[in-house]
Amino acid sequence: METLLLTVDEFVDNSENYTQAVNWFNSGEVVAFPTETVYGLGAVATDEQAVKKIFAAKGRPSDNPLIVHIGTMEEVARYVVDIPEIAKKCMEAFWPGPLTLVMKVKPNVLAASVTPGMQTVGLRMPNHPVALRLLQTLKKPLAAPSANRSGKPSPTKAMHVWEDLQGLIPCILDGGMTGIGVESTVLDVTLAQPVILRPGGVTKEMLEQVIGPVLEPNFEQQKIESTPKAPGMKYTHYAPNAPVYLIAQDKQQIECALEELQQQQHTVALLAPQNFANVKADYFFSFGDEHELEQMSATLYDALRACDKTNATIILATVTERKGVGTAIMNRLEKAAGGKWYQR
Ligand code: TXA
Ligand code: MG
Repeated sequence: METLLLTVDEFVDNSENYTQAVNWFNSGEVVAFPTETVYGLGAVATDEQAVKKIFAAKGRPSDNPLIVHIGTMEEVARYVVDIPEIAKKCMEAFWPGPLTLVMKVKPNVLAASVTPGMQTVGLRMPNHPVALRLLQTLKKPLAAPSANRSGKPSPTKAMHVWEDLQGLIPCILDGGMTGIGVESTVLDVTLAQPVILRPGGVTKEMLEQVIGPVLEPNFEQQKIESTPKAPGMKYTHYAPNAPVYLIAQDKQQIECALEELQQQQHTVALLAPQNFANVKADYFFSFGDEHELEQMSATLYDALRACDKTNATIILATVTERKGVGTAIMNRLEKAAGGKWYQR
C-alpha cells in the first residue's frame, strides 16, 4: 500500500487534505493524525472493520482497548451510560486536553473491538487544531491509539509514524511536532475514588485541585494484581532495541558508569539534560534544559527512537523528579527500562 504524507499546518490552505482524510475515514480506512500529546492512528469508532485495521497495522494485542476521540462535549452522552459528577468537572476543567476519562460504556454503540470484553470506554477531546478540525468535519468519533508499531515509543513527529507504518496505512497527516510528547492521562472515574491508570499531561496535582483526592499507583503498586490498571500497561512499552538502564542526574555517577561500560566493550547512548553533553558517551541525546520537565516530556520519545538509529548496545537514561509531568516521564522511563537501574 502506498502511504501519502499530507501537510496540514496553519501556514497553507489545506482544506483538500482534510477532505481527503475525512473521505478515507468514511470509506473505512485508517489515517494517522497529530494530537497535542502524540500522533494517533484513527478509524471511525463505530466501524468494526475499520477499527480492526488499526490493530493489524500496529500489531496490537486485541485485548487492549482503544481511546475514543470526540470533537464536542455533547457527544459523550452517546457513548456512556451516565456521566459521573467528577467526570463533568474534569471535562469542564481539562477538555479539550490530554485527559482520557474511563466511564461505563453504552452497549452496542461503538465497534466491539474498541472495548474488547469491557464494561468501560476511555473518551477524550484532544486539544490540537488538526485533530479538532478533523473530528468536527467528520462528525463521528475516532478510535485512536498512538500511531506506533506496538511496543515502540509513541510518535511525536510524522516521520516517526512513517518509520513504523509506512506501507501499512494509506495516509499520515503531518502537523509538525506534537507539544506535550507523552500520552494523555487516563483517569478511571467509575470507582468510588478516581484512579490514574496512566499518568500524563494532566497531573495528579491539577486533578486534585478540581476533584479532590485521586489515587495514583506507583510502578511497584501497579504490579500488584488487585490494583486497577489500564489493560495496555501489562505489555512492553516505549522500548528501543538496546536495553535501557536508569541512572541519577549525577555527573560523577554517569562518568563512572560510562568508563565501566566502555571497558566492557559496550557502545553507550546517554539520554540526559543538555548540560551533560560534554561527558564521554558514544552517543548523546538531549532531554532539553535541566529541570525543564516540559522540554523533557516533549523530547523523550524522539530521544528513545534516536537510539535505534545508532549501534549503541546499551542506553543510559537519567531520571527526573516525580512531580508534575515528571510523574508521567518517570512512568514511561521505568517502562522503557523494565524498572532496571544501572548498578556497578
Ligand atoms: O494521548 C493519548 O492518549 C494518545 C493520543 C493518540 O490520543 N492515545 C493513546 O492511545 O495513547 P493508546 O492506545 O496508545 O493508549 C491507551 C491506553 C492503553 O493503556 C489502554 O489500555 C488504556 O488507555 N485504556 C483505553 N481504554 C480503557 C478502558 N476502558 N479502561 C482502562 N484503560 C483503558
Ligand atoms: Mg500507545
